[in-house]
Amino acid sequence: MSDLSAARIRHSTLCSEIEHHNRLYYRQDSPSISDYEYDQLMQELLALESKFSELSSANSPSQRVGSLPLDEFSQITHEKPMLSLSNGFTDDDIREFDRRLHKELGQPDERLFNYVAEPKLDGLAVSIYYQDGVLKHAATRGDGKVGEDITQNVKTIRSVPLRLPEGAPERLEVRGEIFISHAGFEALNKTQASLEKKLFVNPRNAAAGSLRQLDSKITASRPLDIFVYSLGVISDDDFATTHSQTLDKLAELGFPICPLLEKVVGSEGCLDYFTRISKIRSDLDYEIDGIVYKLDRLDWQQSVGFIAKAPRWALAHKFPAQEKSTVVTNIDVQVGRTGAITPVARLAPLFVGGVTVSNVTLHNQSEIQRLGIRIGDTVIVRRAGDVIPQIVAVNLEKRPPDSVEYQFPTRCPECGSEVAIQGEGIIARCSGGLSCGAQVKQAIKHFVSRKAMDIDGMGDKIVDILVDQKLIKNVADLYSLSVDQVVELEGFAEKSALNLISSIEGSKQAELSRLLYALGIPQVGESTAEQLANTFGNLDSLGRANIDALESLPDIGPIVAENIVRFFADQNNQSVIQTLLDSGVEYRRIDVDELPDPESLPLNGKTVVLTGTLQSLSRSDAKKRLQALGAKVAGSVSKKTDLVVVGADAGSKALKAQELGIEMIDEVELISLLDA
Ligand code: IVH
Repeated sequence: MSDLSAARIRHSTLCSEIEHHNRLYYRQDSPSISDYEYDQLMQELLALESKFSELSSANSPSQRVGSLPLDEFSQITHEKPMLSLSNGFTDDDIREFDRRLHKELGQPDERLFNYVAEPKLDGLAVSIYYQDGVLKHAATRGDGKVGEDITQNVKTIRSVPLRLPEGAPERLEVRGEIFISHAGFEALNKTQASLEKKLFVNPRNAAAGSLRQLDSKITASRPLDIFVYSLGVISDDDFATTHSQTLDKLAELGFPICPLLEKVVGSEGCLDYFTRISKIRSDLDYEIDGIVYKLDRLDWQQSVGFIAKAPRWALAHKFPAQEKSTVVTNIDVQVGRTGAITPVARLAPLFVGGVTVSNVTLHNQSEIQRLGIRIGDTVIVRRAGDVIPQIVAVNLEKRPPDSVEYQFPTRCPECGSEVAIQGEGIIARCSGGLSCGAQVKQAIKHFVSRKAMDIDGMGDKIVDILVDQKLIKNVADLYSLSVDQVVELEGFAEKSALNLISSIEGSKQAELSRLLYALGIPQVGESTAEQLANTFGNLDSLGRANIDALESLPDIGPIVAENIVRFFADQNNQSVIQTLLDSGVEYRRIDVDELPDPESLPLNGKTVVLTGTLQSLSRSDAKKRLQALGAKVAGSVSKKTDLVVVGADAGSKALKAQELGIEMIDEVELISLLDA
């Protein structure tokens, strides 16, 4: 036998053996060999693969140790958007959620619904895609539509299967939460401390930091784990009829599912589960910040659908806020992007709601008066879930004799300009405008941020340095920076300077909505920017719009309308916009007249279901083209379905459509419908 064939046999044995130990360790919590022995197996595998490169493959367990570092993450567009969840806080919120579902589904209140109740894991959402049973790519949630490609990193997580058993659907996307356990977190911070590296503030941050490593070898050294909680795309229409069945099947395929998950009955079943889990929450080895209830029947999920970015069939029941007390060591102010001056309380650090808090915003002068806070006071800090921490009260009994009343500044601490107070101490603004360094910095930080122009590598510190060194004084100046200028800055070398300039260059092709958001018009957030882009199509038309035209849009009230008009009337802003365009920033104009009126579309209001295999076009293309004609494309057949497209080898859906007497067409008829 040749060396290579012998190596191939040994390689295959090693692979199965290592995956077997991964399962014992991560899924069954009962390792049968020591860490040392495991490392020996892995070393042998790595040695074999480095000797015979033909043996290494994208799904070898050697991927678990990480691969070559990347220069940057590429992007992955989610075939189905990754949604978020609506929140509930009180028992009544949960009962109301259940009542609403009964109403929408036309079911009597007496008929109790089955729900799956699951802990809401406090980690990071991930999508993992398998093609023919092999892990192909993994992505972060990102903005829900586009995420970052973290395939190399996810492959290092040993509880993530790299390969699925025989019989797995051809295309399968699972979604779940990546997290670090408490034990893992402590061990990690111990290692960090021994290496004199920065400690992580909580398990979630540690998980986020570990997952966003360009060097997957670093990720491999971090104790990441995963629980899978739902499906994304799947080629098998008949995979499951309920959410609980979906999870059972995913478990059979080797995915780790949270062991605490339960099928419960009715809203009272949900609330009872919530009480039970609340009691054991502090004993769990991972952070959870609430309970998620999901309607079990998938056809019902389909029929109730979504509102905005969250499904109607699920609800996150958040644990109540945590409150703790600490001392206010000082109060000072921050100057924001639009000159707003915000007082901030500096606190003796305290750990509350899973994070260490040492600064809390006091919003405005009247809030300080309302709470009656003095420097030196003991205050109660509340933090609920992902909500920013806030001071809820002062403990007057603990007020020390030397406490100091806070004097709100009359001059901007950054530039010395006068502070203008508007509306009963509600808004304090630095009057320095763009001569105020703090405002300039904030405006640029906003411009380069991920949801705006997304200039990778342009962190806050770099912006501070560029402004302090007078290399830039507004957002347009970014585009005239040169590699020579950047390389001179502290912390830069030839390569990093080149990278920064090329990401600035790369941001020049922007979507209009992002560019609008990036400009930082007061109170114009992402969704308003998107609406403006889709309505006006280009900057000139928007700049000419009057208050009435703006106010006629659903999301825009008089104040935002005025902000927009004032922004475009400002000469300085106009010249910044002109310089941006002159420097080559380009956006695609949206032909607003061409946006069709939904009423005029041939399939407006029709629900269509696709089933079976289509020969001449992919299912997702068929779906997109149907949607473009105004149809809603659903995943399962119900009374509400108007049309079923039956491809080859169609199964139960076609039968059901027949039973319900729903119109059915074949692929040929579909094509002529699409082409008509
Ligand atoms: S379901 C449409 N289930 O919570 C379904 N999400 O606020 C959306 N999360 O981005 C997700 N545990 O990162 C679901 N058992 C669970 C979850 C869970 C944690 C996170 C997830 C998501 C966020 C939504």
